[in-house]
Amino acid sequence: MGTWLGLAWALLCLPGLGDGHGRLGGPAATIPRADAQAFSFPSPTLTATQRRAFSVGNALFKTNWVSAPASAAGRDGLGPLFNARSCSACHLRDGRGRPAERGEAAETGDLVRVALGGAPHPLYGGQLQDRAILGAQPEPAPLLEWEELPGLYPDGVRYSLRRPRWRGAGSHQEGLAYTALVAPHMIGLGLLEAVPSATLHALADPEDHDGDGISGRVHLVRDRRTGELAPGRFGWKASQPTVEQQVAAAFVHDIGITSSLFPEEPLSMEQLEQNPSAASEAPELDDLKLSRVTFYSQVLAVPAQRAAGEPEIRSGEEHFSVLGCAACHRPALRTGPEAVLSGYQSVEIHPYTDLLLHDLGAGLADGRPEGDASGSEWRTPPLWGVGLFDAVNGHSFYLHDGRARSLEEAVLWHGGEAARSRDAFMALSAGQRHDLLAFLASL
Ligand code: HEC
Ligand code: HEC
Repeated sequence: MGTWLGLAWALLCLPGLGDGHGRLGGPAATIPRADAQAFSFPSPTLTATQRRAFSVGNALFKTNWVSAPASAAGRDGLGPLFNARSCSACHLRDGRGRPAERGEAAETGDLVRVALGGAPHPLYGGQLQDRAILGAQPEPAPLLEWEELPGLYPDGVRYSLRRPRWRGAGSHQEGLAYTALVAPHMIGLGLLEAVPSATLHALADPEDHDGDGISGRVHLVRDRRTGELAPGRFGWKASQPTVEQQVAAAFVHDIGITSSLFPEEPLSMEQLEQNPSAASEAPELDDLKLSRVTFYSQVLAVPAQRAAGEPEIRSGEEHFSVLGCAACHRPALRTGPEAVLSGYQSVEIHPYTDLLLHDLGAGLADGRPEGDASGSEWRTPPLWGVGLFDAVNGHSFYLHDGRARSLEEAVLWHGGEAARSRDAFMALSAGQRHDLLAFLASL
């Protein structure tokens, strides 16, 4: 492993080669790291002033918020209901959260959303906050169990997938749909934000006019800053249009901290009556702090691909394109002239996403629409960094709820628009499958 990586870095540093796909985040945002801190570095081109803003954002990202009023002025406002006290509790080392193994989904880096007949729950809303400050009533978390689903490749090799099974708790009634969502890794978000909306509209093919079986569509959502509809880019169902709005949504839904973008606590009438002090105060987070956490979240660098030139990685990359994976996980996108850093403007990046919604079939569906996204639609997640979850977070769980225990299981879960691609993967020889998975692990 050590020499393998050493070789990769040596290749990367050779003049000429560094401009290729190895530099996943483009020239201004790629760093040669593959260790536990690999997701936590700022883009190397920050000015001194920007570095200070990044550090303040980093500190706020790690802050344990406390309930108001507190002597710790400036970091209170927690709750009344919340999932975790800090951003980093879920986005540990800016990496991927892990699902609950058994029992309640707790603060391990995931959260549980809920729907009743396709709409938010009348009492609990769309997300279950299973923790509360003193005197408030937390929302009851359902129990999660995993069920094994054995399967067979055409060549006779066995595999087993696991799917979540929920058991309602507390006053949960029949007909509720639950989803666990794990925290995505935080890298390269300012680059994804800088891909022009026109590019996303051009990639979309909602009626599948080109007949390739793949019909991605833009998730149009309300941008709270402008009041306009804009393409959603962030979250597993692309529900947030900008990093700022995603960050403000996380503050209010996950930690219970209001801001100018989300001035109200996500409480039902009944819960507001029980917590009168939560109603209509001034925003708990001021705009300066919001902007610092936003900046931090925008400029985290992307680790370079490892061993991009190795024969097995190249062969895997070839399969990735032939199998049709690249139709959704786009290997190259160009950012536009508007970006948070000048180095992020008009550059080619290699995120392996189209930021579009795709129907991935019944196997992954959660029966819980979000905005215009149906229960079976998910945003293509960027694949940069997927080979580093083990190094950064000590696990290799994939997909929106962390059900896949390896990259292989993640691929096998693909259905719907990606069913053809999955079948083609299954039909490969064991050696070819190995190469494809090695390519994914190099990202
Ligand atoms: C309880 C766990 C939890 C906490 C706490 C949390 N997050 Fe998240 N974060 C998530 C999950 C789960 C998602 C995916 C949400 C979705 O799909 O709608 C997410 C998504 C995001 C994204 C979008 C990433 C992407 O690739 O789409 C950003 C940015 C983000 N969170 C930042 C923050 C910040 C900043 C904080 C602190 C204010 C925070 N999060 C607190 C779990 C958490
Ligand atoms: C139709 C679009 C589409 C195609 C084709 C497709 N994917 Fe995906 N991929 C997705 C979506 C959407 C998800 C997220 C699904 C979820 O989390 O439930 C995903 C998730 C993944 C993940 C897990 C990522 C993570 O962060 O957890 C991997 C790995 C992956 N795909 C690899 C592949 C490979 C390899 C192929 C080709 C064999 C492929 N995909 C084909 C859309 C696609």
